[in-house]
Amino acid sequence: MDGTQQQITQHRVRIGRADVRVFEDGATLAAGAASMIASFIRREVTKARAAGGRLVSVAMAGGSTPVATYRHLATMDIPWSGVCAWVGDERYVPLDDEDSNGAMIGRSLLDGTGARFLQVPWADDRSAPDAAALYEAELLASMGGDARGPRPDLILAGMGGDGHTLSLFPGSDALDITDRWYIATEVSAAQPWRLTATYPLAYRAAAVYVLVSGESKAPALAEVLQPTGDHPLPARRLMEGGAPVSWLVDRAAAAGLDLP
Ligand code: 6PG
Repeated sequence: MDGTQQQITQHRVRIGRADVRVFEDGATLAAGAASMIASFIRREVTKARAAGGRLVSVAMAGGSTPVATYRHLATMDIPWSGVCAWVGDERYVPLDDEDSNGAMIGRSLLDGTGARFLQVPWADDRSAPDAAALYEAELLASMGGDARGPRPDLILAGMGGDGHTLSLFPGSDALDITDRWYIATEVSAAQPWRLTATYPLAYRAAAVYVLVSGESKAPALAEVLQPTGDHPLPARRLMEGGAPVSWLVDRAAAAGLDLP
């Protein structure tokens, strides 16, 4: 922890390859996650500015869990002008739709911060796959990389009660994509299409923080971190690449873990 990181009580354990930080409750998880994210961004923006000034690439998580963390971050002194933020996954809806992750992230944190914030290019005459291809190209142009591909700095993600993460759902063809960084995926006929970072892009990150809160996530988190089944849940597969993954969880979500 660097000196600026607020000391939030956490129980830090390693479970196999997983770095797990257990916070007492949702409120301390939000504060602790905000402190870790702020420290990461401050450190990487300082390094980037000293090395020529590229923007630090940060994928923001969707859903409801990160809102409390974003509200904490909104009160902190963070060099957002040194950040290019994007959505790790998005529902393919207009920005004024209540389901839009991009709108939620803007409303709870990024609006007015000076961060460059890349939103999914929704249009009523544009298919989700076409929007994903446009967004993928914009992402590739926005972040550093090397011969093996783009190099996001930080990816924030959540986890559903079924063990999905980003918009990588159990049984989806999206789980097997190896030649794309960002795609559209149809979750079900009843829901809007989703756009999501793929595992190849997640594996290229310098760091991945997965925020998991609440007792409803406990069974899935236990299966992700201490699997008993034959097939890894999508969230567990985040750890199959080279990116270091930290699981920022509260005690309720960790209830099913056999903690040392
Ligand atoms: C989304 C998210 C999704 C989310 C999980 C957990 O677009 O819904 O990206 O992957 O992180 O579904 O959602 P909650 O935080 O609302 O439980």
